[in-house]
Amino acid sequence: MRRIEYKTDRQLAQMARAGLITSQALDAAVAAAAPGVTTAQLDQAFRQVLAEQSAGSNFLGYYDYPATICTSVNDEVVHGIPGDRTLVEGDMISIDGGATVQDEKGKTWHGDSARTALIGEVSQARRELSEITRAALWQGIAAAASARKVGEIGLAIEAFVRREAGDNYGIIEDFVGHGIGSSMHMAPDVLNYAARDLGPRLKKGMALAIEPMLVTGSIETVTLQDGWTIKTTDGGDACQWEHSVAFHSEGIWVLTAEDGGAEELSKLGVTVKPIPA
Ligand code: MF3
Ligand code: CO
Ligand code: CO
Repeated sequence: MRRIEYKTDRQLAQMARAGLITSQALDAAVAAAAPGVTTAQLDQAFRQVLAEQSAGSNFLGYYDYPATICTSVNDEVVHGIPGDRTLVEGDMISIDGGATVQDEKGKTWHGDSARTALIGEVSQARRELSEITRAALWQGIAAAASARKVGEIGLAIEAFVRREAGDNYGIIEDFVGHGIGSSMHMAPDVLNYAARDLGPRLKKGMALAIEPMLVTGSIETVTLQDGWTIKTTDGGDACQWEHSVAFHSEGIWVLTAEDGGAEELSKLGVTVKPIPA
C-alpha cells in the first residue's frame, strides 16, 4: 500500500510557492493560446515563466515526457504532447502544467493544475462543456473543505454534473486525481466521479490534485501511437480543469489559484484560510 504523505504547514507553504508559479505559467500559456499558434509555442510560454521564477518542471522527463505541459485539443482528453499542431478558431484546448520548487533542505515540492482555453469564436456546446467542467472542479473543492472522506469530492462533482446536465456528459474514470507533495503523483487516488468506496479519511496535512475530465459522449478512451495522447474513442469532445488543494491546520487553500480560491469558493459558501506562516 502506498502511504499518504502528511505535510506540515511550513511544507504546504512551500507547495503554495510551487502552486503560484504553476498558476502564473498557466496564465502565460493561456494568454498565448490563439488561432495560428502551435501547441509547442504554448509550451515555450509556460517554460519561460518557470525559467524566470527559477522553478523546475515536474512534467519534463516524467517517464521521458518531452514537454513542460500537456496540450489536449477537442477530442483529446489528457496528455497531448505539444508540437507543431496549429490551433484554429473553434478549438478547445486543455493546458495542464506544473512547477516545482525546492525548500531550504533541498526537498522538492510540486504544483499541478489545468485549465481549458477556448480559441477564438467557439461553439456554444464547447463553451458549456468547459464552463460545467470548471464549475464541477470548484464544487469538488468546496465539498473537500468539509468532507470526512476523500471520496466525497467525487460524489459532489458527479452530483453537480448530473444536476446541471443530466446524462449529457460523461465523467472519465480511466484517469483520476491524486495526492501531491514531494512527488507529483502520490496516494491517495482522488476520483472525480461517484464511487461506493469513499476511500481514506480527508485529514489535515494532505494536499490533493482534483481534476475532473468531462466528455460529451462515451467515457471510453484510447491511447494514440505517440504513447501519451489520450482521446475519446468515439471522437466526442473532452475537457479538463484541475487544481492542487492544501488541507492545513486552519482550513483549505487552493495552491494553484492566485487568491487561494477565495473568490470562487465564496460563491459556494466556503471561506479559504491562508496557510499560517
Ligand atoms: N499533470 C498530469 C496530472 O494531472 C499528469 C501529467 S503526466 C506528464 O496528473 F507526464 F505528462 F507530465
Ligand atoms: Co495535471
Ligand atoms: Co494531476
